[in-house]
Amino acid sequence: MADRKTDIVGEIMELKKQRNAVILVHNYQRPEVQDIADFLGDSLELSQKAAKTDADVIVFCGVNFMAETAYIVNPKKVVLLPDMDAGCPMADMITAESLIARKKELPGVTVVCYVNSTAAVKAESDICCTSANAVEVVRSLGDKEILFIPDAYLGQWAAEKTGHKMHLWPGYCPTHVRISANDILERKMEFPEAVVLVHPECLPEAKAVADAVLSTGGMIRYARESSAKEMIIGTEIGIIYRLQKENPGKNFIPVTMKATCPNMKRTTLEKVLWSLQKMENRIIVPEDIRLRAFSAVELMLAIS
Ligand code: 13P
Ligand code: SF4
Repeated sequence: MADRKTDIVGEIMELKKQRNAVILVHNYQRPEVQDIADFLGDSLELSQKAAKTDADVIVFCGVNFMAETAYIVNPKKVVLLPDMDAGCPMADMITAESLIARKKELPGVTVVCYVNSTAAVKAESDICCTSANAVEVVRSLGDKEILFIPDAYLGQWAAEKTGHKMHLWPGYCPTHVRISANDILERKMEFPEAVVLVHPECLPEAKAVADAVLSTGGMIRYARESSAKEMIIGTEIGIIYRLQKENPGKNFIPVTMKATCPNMKRTTLEKVLWSLQKMENRIIVPEDIRLRAFSAVELMLAIS
């Protein structure tokens, strides 16, 4: 088994060189996929990397909207998603048509679109954000009337931080809503010294009992810089591997093992190898949609 894994990794590295490819990996991916990353990060960091890479091919180990964003910012590259079914249920909670209908009810509204959305939805939006910069993006809009899509809980948190009342789309992440305030308090009883970090996609009551609300990239930095030796982590459990690997002297406790995103787990080493061999699945966004989505993503990158 270990030998087969070594063989696959060797083949991936060889093909990666031949194709001049870069492997971008999200913090929630399986440990063995994280280990082959050229760059491992959160949604914002990965889109910044995708925009700047001089590789010819981007292999995106994450979910569909992330690979689409890579294509939106760098359409000359071949963008590959190893598993075409790696979607995001939250992104599917809004369509371009339903957004257009809502905008008609709110004439003149500015749409802030979480990157966990399809390219077609981004194309109908004014500016994108990620969990790392949602507060900054909302602040940059002054006192404009805002419709925040599709994550109501990230929107609620950005509204609270900025004091800016917003219209919220009723979307949510099925993985993060499984992290309850009760679970957090139970872990706190077991590890009273631990600091609690949660993702802004969590429920308001879970965020209320946390010490810090951070994107996955923010959690990585916090863990590195903090003097705390124990941290209770309220986000998708894939991040625990990276936290533990980079901070061997510290202890990271997931709030609940139920916080697993099946879509993030679809990517395997075998699929990455297949993807590089076949140069599939290619992610392409029609140019008219891409251009409109790009202006919303570009505005976000400019202020990040
Ligand atoms: P980050 O932007 O914090 O990496 O989060 C992405 C995501 O999908 C959270 O569920
Ligand atoms: Fe989507 Fe939630 Fe999975 Fe992130 S963790 S990709 S928001 S379903």
